[in-house]
Amino acid sequence: MDLQAYLKERSQLVDKALEQYMPTLPAPAKVLEEAMRYSLFAGGKRLRPILALAAAEAVGGSVEAALPASCALEYIHTYSLIHDDLPAMVDDDWRRGRPTNHKAYGEAQAILAGDALLTQAFVILTASNYPATVNPEQIRRAIYEIAVAAGPEGMVGGQSADIREQGNAAAGPEVLTYIHTHKTGALLRSAVRVGAILGGATRDQLASLTSYGEKLGLAFQISDDILDATGDPMLLGKPVKHDAKKQKLTYVTLCGLEKARREAANLAKQAEDSLQSFSAAADPLRALARFTVERDH
Ligand code: IPE
Ligand code: IPE
Ligand code: MG
Repeated sequence: MDLQAYLKERSQLVDKALEQYMPTLPAPAKVLEEAMRYSLFAGGKRLRPILALAAAEAVGGSVEAALPASCALEYIHTYSLIHDDLPAMVDDDWRRGRPTNHKAYGEAQAILAGDALLTQAFVILTASNYPATVNPEQIRRAIYEIAVAAGPEGMVGGQSADIREQGNAAAGPEVLTYIHTHKTGALLRSAVRVGAILGGATRDQLASLTSYGEKLGLAFQISDDILDATGDPMLLGKPVKHDAKKQKLTYVTLCGLEKARREAANLAKQAEDSLQSFSAAADPLRALARFTVERDH
């Protein structure tokens, strides 16, 4: 399949839906709306929504079944980037090819834009029209998956550990695995699971896709760490060599580039292997696993 064409078509579909879910705010809160839009429409890869849609289709479901949840995931992901870049967190000046949200709107509005994107995600999940193939129990499960993945037992827990372990030379592989599987892996895993749940996956299909999501999530963060060490900031839209400067605990700082590359490729292969029982309907997921480690941005 032509992955580039697929990614482009899916990004456009997702962008249109993201726009439809954006509230129009009155004059006193217009700055908040602008700050939300500034980061949401700065040109992310839309990987989490695209994964959710692809997982729904892999189990025979429709794009419409997973579209609201896929947008909710992108709202949450964007909030996490805004907060990650804040001076109190990583203190970054560039993201998605433009000055970070707090550089453009100030810290207070940036924090609020993050809060707003996170909360709006749950408005999207609960207020959207779902096709008749999706029942209320599937919607409840999807909301639960996303809340757990984004919260203390998921992304926020991982971010806390990531900050805490900065500069800790004694930290080992267990802590690194905790950080990777939580700060980034949890939301990616939930994207795949939520798409599968809303698409009507059987228990076996959900188990296989969960394994796929876990391997892909880990591969994705290792490749993010590799790109931080070796990537082109113009392509990435964010600064590089940041992890070393901030003494972040990453796969590259702990194991070196060579081993990181091997591990990422292994995990991507394992992700693909998790899909052995699936038909060609899972080909986009197969291609996305390879993209995760072969990407340059
Ligand atoms: C970057 O995520 C931050 C991490 C969670 C590692 P992406 O690489 O998916 O960022 P965008 O959405 O394309 O900007
Ligand atoms: C960020 O991971 C994870 C979240 C925002 C939850 P990184 O710290 O590696 O992100 P980048 O490399 O700045 O995008
Ligand atoms: Mg990084």
